[in-house]
Amino acid sequence: MQKLRSITVRAPAKVNMQLTVGGRRNDGYHELANVFLAVSCFDEITLTPADRLHLTVSGRGTAQVPIDDSNLAAQAVKLLAKKGGVDPGVHIHIDKRIPIQGGMGGGSADAAAALVGCNALWNLGLDRPGLLSLAAELGSDVPFAVLGGAALGTGRGERLIPLTGSGALHWVFAIAPFGLSTPEVYGAEERRRRQAGLPSTADLMPSPKASQRLLDAFARGDVGALAQTLSNDLEPVALSLRPKLAATLATGKDAGALAGMLCGTGATTAFLVPDARGAQRVADALLASGTCASVQIAHGPVPGPSPEETTATG
Ligand code: C5P
Repeated sequence: MQKLRSITVRAPAKVNMQLTVGGRRNDGYHELANVFLAVSCFDEITLTPADRLHLTVSGRGTAQVPIDDSNLAAQAVKLLAKKGGVDPGVHIHIDKRIPIQGGMGGGSADAAAALVGCNALWNLGLDRPGLLSLAAELGSDVPFAVLGGAALGTGRGERLIPLTGSGALHWVFAIAPFGLSTPEVYGAEERRRRQAGLPSTADLMPSPKASQRLLDAFARGDVGALAQTLSNDLEPVALSLRPKLAATLATGKDAGALAGMLCGTGATTAFLVPDARGAQRVADALLASGTCASVQIAHGPVPGPSPEETTATG
C-alpha cells in the first residue's frame, strides 16, 4: 500500500519587546519599530497530502478559528502551491495552544508553519529568502514567524534584522477572557491621534527607531535593564478599549514581575520575570486574582518552525 507522508511543525508564539508605531502609510499600514521574540508556546500543525485543501482544528478556542479559505494557513498553502506549480491538496490540522486574538501571533505562526511544512512535504526546496518573501505577502508578522529567535522588524514589521541575545528570558502570559482584533486596535490608535490633533501619517512623522538601550540589554542578557526598556505604543489605546486589562497588569507587577505590558495588539498581557520560580509565583497570583482566563509560562528566544516527518500511514 502507498505510504503517505505527514509533516508536523511546531510553530512558536511571539511577544513584542518593543512596539513603536509610526505614521500610517498610503497603503494603510503603519511604520513600525518592532522587536520580536519567539517564545515557547506552540501551535502544532500537521500537513498530510489529501485530494483537496482542507483544514481542521483542535485545542484552545477552536470555535473562533476559521476553517475556510480565510484561515492564514490555508492562504499560505495556496500561495506556496501556486509558486511551486503544485496541487494544493493537503489536509492542514492545527492543534491550537497559542491564544486567539491574543496579540501573540498565532495566525501568523500557523501560516509560517504551513509554508515551511509544505515546502518540505512537496520537496520544493525554497530557500529562506524565498519563504520570507512569500511570508510578507501573507501578513506583516509572518516573516518573523518563519524566522523565529529574536529580530528587529521595520517597515510594516516585515523587514527583519535577526538579533542575538544571551540566555533565556522568562515570561508569564495572562490570557484575557476576551480578544482584541489587530485592525480594531490600530484603528482606535488612528482615531486617538486625530482627536488629539497629532500628526498620524508617515510623511508627517519620524520613522520609528529601535531602542538602543533595549537592544543592548537584550544582547547582554541583562533582564533588569531590559525590563526598564520594554514598551508598546498600543497599550494605552488597548486599555481604553478593554479597561479590565489594567487590573491584570497591576496584579502581575504586584506579584513580582519585573515588567508587564500588552502583548502586541492584545488582549494577552505579558510579564517579564527574573527566573522560572518567579514565573510560577506571578502565574499563581494572576490565576488567583480572577483577572484573566488562564496563564501560560514560557521562555524565549526559541527557534522558528522546523518540519518533522512524523507518520507514514497506509
Ligand atoms: O499585516 P496584517 O494583515 O497582519 O495586518 C493586519 C492589520 O493590522 C492591517 O490591516 C492593519 O489594520 C494593521 N497593521 C497596521 N500596520 C502594521 C501592521 C498591521 O496598521 N504595520
